[in-house]
Amino acid sequence: MTGSTSGIGLACAQTLAAKGANLVIHGLVSDEEGKRLATQLAATFKVDCFFVAGNLADEDAVIKLIHEAQTLLGRLDILVNNAGIQFTARVENFPLDRWRQILEVNLTACFTAIKAALPFMQAEKFGRIINIASVHGLVASKEKSAYVAAKHGLVGLTKVVALENAEQGITCNAICPGWVDTAIVAKQIEAKAKMQGITEVQARRDLVAEKQPMSHMTSVQAIADLVAFLASDSAVTMTGSAIPMDGGWLAQ
Ligand SMILES: NC(=O)c1ccc[n+]([C@@H]2O[C@H](COP(=O)([O-])OP(=O)(O)OC[C@H]3O[C@@H](n4cnc5c(N)ncnc54)[C@H](O)[C@@H]3O)[C@@H](O)[C@H]2O)c1
Repeated sequence: MTGSTSGIGLACAQTLAAKGANLVIHGLVSDEEGKRLATQLAATFKVDCFFVAGNLADEDAVIKLIHEAQTLLGRLDILVNNAGIQFTARVENFPLDRWRQILEVNLTACFTAIKAALPFMQAEKFGRIINIASVHGLVASKEKSAYVAAKHGLVGLTKVVALENAEQGITCNAICPGWVDTAIVAKQIEAKAKMQGITEVQARRDLVAEKQPMSHMTSVQAIADLVAFLASDSAVTMTGSAIPMDGGWLAQ
């Protein structure tokens, strides 16, 4: 599970561990912090849990992460591509290095992780690949060109992987959240408050209201529960879907 040391990823790790899954967590934290989290998860849920570090902008690190996960766990049944980053600016002001970084982490790393994991899953004739995309995999917003391009790409990649593995016991789906209360959104709230000279409470309310008919954000737990469902036997025929959980954002 990539990017599972905070936010949505950490909630997914806790939820799958609570269901008895052994797991590898990963994220951009120190080895000490990663190992502390893994030990805590293992002790709380009585499962095996390991931390593996690695910057997803580096292809070799992504491949190493998947291979280490397979070695540590003995088999690889579920891959959750969750890590993601954001940067906002109009296209004419969008720095090329930021564009490249977002495409690398939010799209290319998912491709590389899936490519590395598929042979293990195909050998077992079982696999659940769950990509945390976004409503921005299905619609656009201003000032998010790289993020929207990467998430649309991730939804497309999800469908191709689903088609190619439909008869191999492997499903591949994308979850498309609207606003979820995590650090990635906190940064946008802070920036909006500063730019408009309003409080963070007001900025938060405005940010959600601009896009969602529902005024509250989705919880990380709700996304994690959907991940657990997609990993379950009941979801065996669900593949190639892009599932919104978005407070009505896409219904408009
Ligand atoms: N929060 C939202 O409103 C929202 C909405 C839709 C989609 N999403 C998507 O959900 C996913 C998780 O987001 P979140 O809100 O929990 O964010 P977050 O910032 O809390 O977590 C991101 C995780 O990714 C890891 N990460 C970031 N860059 C990395 C890199 N280069 N190498 C390795 N790890 C890296 C971080 O260490 C962290 O564990 C992302 O893909 C995001 O695009 C979030």
